[in-house]
Amino acid sequence: MKNLNILITGGAGYIGSHIVEQLVNCNNNNIIIIDNLVTGFNRLINKKAKFIKADLENKKYLKKIIFDNEIDTIIHLAAYLNVSEAENNRKKYYKNNIIGTKNLLEACKNSYVNNVIFSSSCSIYGNVKGAVSENKKPNPAGYYAYTKYKGENLIKKYSKKIGYKYSILRYFNVAGASPSNKIGEIEKSHDHLFKNISIQALKKKPVVRIYGNNYKTKDGTCIRDFIHVSDLADIHIKCINYLNKKKKSITLNCGYGIGYSVQEIVNIFKKIKKNCRVVYEKKRTGDIDQVYSNIKKFNKTFKWKPKHNNIKKILLSSIKWEKKLKKNNVKS
Ligand SMILES: NC(=O)c1ccc[n+]([C@@H]2O[C@H](COP(=O)([O-])OP(=O)(O)OC[C@H]3O[C@@H](n4cnc5c(N)ncnc54)[C@H](O)[C@@H]3O)[C@@H](O)[C@H]2O)c1
Repeated sequence: MKNLNILITGGAGYIGSHIVEQLVNCNNNNIIIIDNLVTGFNRLINKKAKFIKADLENKKYLKKIIFDNEIDTIIHLAAYLNVSEAENNRKKYYKNNIIGTKNLLEACKNSYVNNVIFSSSCSIYGNVKGAVSENKKPNPAGYYAYTKYKGENLIKKYSKKIGYKYSILRYFNVAGASPSNKIGEIEKSHDHLFKNISIQALKKKPVVRIYGNNYKTKDGTCIRDFIHVSDLADIHIKCINYLNKKKKSITLNCGYGIGYSVQEIVNIFKKIKKNCRVVYEKKRTGDIDQVYSNIKKFNKTFKWKPKHNNIKKILLSSIKWEKKLKKNNVKS
């Protein structure tokens, strides 16, 4: 990878910090993080990167940052992502995820930006049978998914206007923590399964909640495709190289292509913590029955092999990170 000036929005968050960890270790890239720290954390900010506290709502400031730092590549992660909260507070999600993205792209006009990578989500597909491929027509079921779908459309629209190339990455469910154990997920408001289980793993009497057990799936619980956060981060490096080399835009699924039910994950945990109690709660609004990735296009595009695609190890890495948070008395 040649030396680049890369701006990462949301770089103090869970996934962003893992991308930064990998970027600072390849070549002399200039990494600039912007984050308002609403769900990001100072302790996730890599010391080798430049950090600017900024909000997507401040278009003028975004423009100044992009111009002053001669940004050529943007990785746009900053967003809200709580599926249930989005249903109850659409305005908040509209403002941050849709208008925030628009502001960022407006700020790119007449700049040096020629690559934009956008964090989208598998939730834009809605309910699907079997493995879903990128050419499936989006059918966002909830409002969070809708904001991601609108975000994708903005990325495409502004690409035509401004001329940058883009990668739309549709993340499946992201889990685990860096093998360095220096970074991992801190924020717990997103209500992510692996985070919730890891918090319980440290309790004497763990209780794991499963939201819905009457979905139309093999065991009644939701099916998801879980990808380790460091593998996902690695895909971003691949994408930057792809955009610089091929100068072509691309949309890709980011998952392993394997669907695990929530019950299956909990069963793995029950082998680790034998006294774990499982409580079945009502379905959460905005959740879909099942979604897992068709990875044919991804495999055709990249010669890439995941390093962490072992579901038990992913869970163990999350738990190890949670232990560290507890030891250091970190609260979210
Ligand atoms: N975690 C997953 O499983 C998953 C799955 C699919 C897609 N995604 C997408 O990946 C991206 C990152 O998610 P994450 O899991 O790292 O969450 P996160 O909350 O840890 O990271 C988001 C970061 O964006 C920052 N942010 C939010 N709004 C901002 C604003 N207006 N201005 C500046 N900074 C702002 C937050 O402070 C936080 O640091 C999001 O766009 C999310 O929709 C995540």
